[in-house]
Amino acid sequence: MIVQKYKDMLKGKSVIRQLSEFATARGEEIGYENVFDYSLGNPSVPVPQEFTDVMIDMLQNCDPMELHGYSQSLGIPSVRRAIAQSLNKRFGMNYTENHIFMTTGAAGAIAHAIRCVTRQGDEILTFAPYFPEYNPYVNLSGAVLKVVPANVEDFQINFDAFEEMLTDKVMAVLINTPNNPSGIVYTTETIKKLAALMSEKSKEYGHDIFLISDEPYREIVFEGTDAPYISKFYSNTLSCYSYSKSLSLPGERIGYVAVNPECADAEYITNMCGQISRGTGHNCPPSIIQLAVSKVLELTSDLSVYEKNMNILYKELTSLGFECVKPGGTFYMFPKALEEDATAFCEKGRKYDLVMVPSDTFGVKGYFRLAYCIDTDKVERSLEAFEKFVKAEYR
Ligand SMILES: Cc1ncc(COP(=O)(O)O)c(C=O)c1O
Repeated sequence: MIVQKYKDMLKGKSVIRQLSEFATARGEEIGYENVFDYSLGNPSVPVPQEFTDVMIDMLQNCDPMELHGYSQSLGIPSVRRAIAQSLNKRFGMNYTENHIFMTTGAAGAIAHAIRCVTRQGDEILTFAPYFPEYNPYVNLSGAVLKVVPANVEDFQINFDAFEEMLTDKVMAVLINTPNNPSGIVYTTETIKKLAALMSEKSKEYGHDIFLISDEPYREIVFEGTDAPYISKFYSNTLSCYSYSKSLSLPGERIGYVAVNPECADAEYITNMCGQISRGTGHNCPPSIIQLAVSKVLELTSDLSVYEKNMNILYKELTSLGFECVKPGGTFYMFPKALEEDATAFCEKGRKYDLVMVPSDTFGVKGYFRLAYCIDTDKVERSLEAFEKFVKAEYR
């Protein structure tokens, strides 16, 4: 007999994927260059040339047994060491290789972190707007995801609602900054307040409350934005990182969990991740990709295009009357729709070949997400479509 739980999940197909499929189908009719596809968070700039050069060099000159052999289950020790050293240098931390667990992207990192610190029925809090894939990550672990309502004024944390929901059932808090979908970066003040409240409640309830910090957009931060390194402010932090966005490598599936050395039971957590990966079958991420990223740790793709696109869109949309909190990073923005029903709003936009994602899927009503990881030329050409759309439908 097949398992109903997974069969039921078939009904919950990702809205983002459906919209992306729509954009592809529409592209076949009118040419994809004429579809203003703001649906998918797929990086639009290539991997740095240095990464390609490293791969070529390794393939030509390294021992194929090393490149294509099984990685150790926690990741290749030299790679974990290099990552720890780089984080220490950049953020003043004290990681060693024993605090780094290599994963298949941020998704793999979060799935392991959740399993390390929550049991069946324990609650995990996250904050709206949030990345909808948190639902399967959490639900399949047996924990229960609860969503703290948004602070729509600036998309920092709604602390009144958070405090109310931070009961003794909560074992972990899952944050994402810079944030998908809002593009907002939590300030130092927000993180300090979050850490203080979590420390206070951990003491009151007599158990640890872990912070799982989802950070795939850590390097995509715009000028003048305060972007603190989260783990510095709260010792019980498991940082979940990915090279998908910073190096434009989403298809290579590579990332890590970094366990704060001061965290409770720090000496067990990476090894526990190794045991979890045995059980889920997600052990040993590709050796060659681990080795290649370890040689370009301080590099990123040319991420400047995202800030450029953001500025163009922000200027145009606000001049058309949209309310929008200005993003501090990522390649997303999250303006308020021009009617209450965000799905109806996005549907009308499709008449103008604007593919936007309604906010309901992110746990907030009445907004929409634009993933502006597309060519600047297309962003510029889309401005006329936005103007036509707004004038025809809302004036
Ligand atoms: C907020 C957030 N977390 C996690 C992920 C998963 O990242 P990865 O592709 O590295 O697994 C994504 C991917 O888009 C994301 O936007």
